[in-house]
Amino acid sequence: MLVWEDTPRSTPTPSNFTEPNGAHAASEAASTAVRGASERRVNAADKRIINAKTDVNQLVPFKYKWAWDKYLATCANHWMPQEVNMSRDIALWKDPNGLTEDERRIVKRNLGFFTTADSLAANNIVLGTYRHITAPECRQFLLRQAFEEAIHTHAYQYIVESLGLDEGEVFNAYNEVQSIRDKDEFLIPFIEAIMDPHFKTGTPETDQTLLKSLIVFACLMEGLFFYVGFTQILALGRQNKMTGAAEQYQYILRDESMHCNFGIDLINALKLENPHLWTAEFKAEIVALFRKAVDLEYAYAEDTMPRGVLGMNAAMFKGYLRYIANRRAVQIGLDELFPGEENPFPWMSEMIDLKKERNFFETRVIEYQTGGALSWD
Ligand SMILES: [Fe+2]
Ligand SMILES: [Fe+2]
Repeated sequence: MLVWEDTPRSTPTPSNFTEPNGAHAASEAASTAVRGASERRVNAADKRIINAKTDVNQLVPFKYKWAWDKYLATCANHWMPQEVNMSRDIALWKDPNGLTEDERRIVKRNLGFFTTADSLAANNIVLGTYRHITAPECRQFLLRQAFEEAIHTHAYQYIVESLGLDEGEVFNAYNEVQSIRDKDEFLIPFIEAIMDPHFKTGTPETDQTLLKSLIVFACLMEGLFFYVGFTQILALGRQNKMTGAAEQYQYILRDESMHCNFGIDLINALKLENPHLWTAEFKAEIVALFRKAVDLEYAYAEDTMPRGVLGMNAAMFKGYLRYIANRRAVQIGLDELFPGEENPFPWMSEMIDLKKERNFFETRVIEYQTGGALSWD
């Protein structure tokens, strides 16, 4: 069988590939063209994001060049956690006067969420999204993204190990800390729906289930649920504290902003090819999910910051999360949910958007990277 089992629509019949009369016929076939093969050549115009009838094993001819370009950009941003020096973080963490209790709480809560969040992300891609996407350029990006999620889990584990934190406490936080559990319980049904081995796209209902899962994952998980945590650790770094962890988070933020942008492009391409899925009822459901996600992330902000810390407080995050939610909504063709919200952390935009040759905290020159593209997406 030349085509994966999950793409029966593109699977040629065995008679296309095997001569019926044994070795003699097979060797004769090898010297001549396979009958009917030229009709099976992939036309770029026939490719589809979902439910394609084209062969998913043929990357080219390209149709979704944006996906291929993003794949190349993510490869150019390659990094590994153990390349970041953690010695200053270790000394600061061990110094009883190095950090306040509120700052320590932020670090531990953060790792409590992220150590398992990126495993959820990886499993969602590998066991869910990947098999339903029939554009090989997009699958190529998803393969790279899955590896990056592994690197992120590795980075969080590396920070936990470097600081000598209680691994049982950190890795079980997603079961034991309510504000983290609530976020994960919001996400898990959307992941499980598409991971179900019996789930298949191909009807308006199941296509909407997949589209909803893509929106929850890109816009609300990677695009919203990560932002309180990223902002807090990068705020520590801006005060010259936990600079190794902050450097790791800086690379992760760069990767995640690429994942989020890819996910949004994927959603919009899927919508363009399947406009019948974007009904008023479906949009209302998505808006409700956005509002719920903002509430959950705000509850997490309150839990992680019972008092003002690092020049920030939970109330500032209410504005920030609304500002981000507006942005994500507009990116997928919805109206702003909270018109007029402004960004209380403009330095975060700089952190995401700035094109830099050196990393933000100047702990290390990052020219080692494999490609020429050091810009942030
Ligand atoms: Fe990640
Ligand atoms: Fe991601």
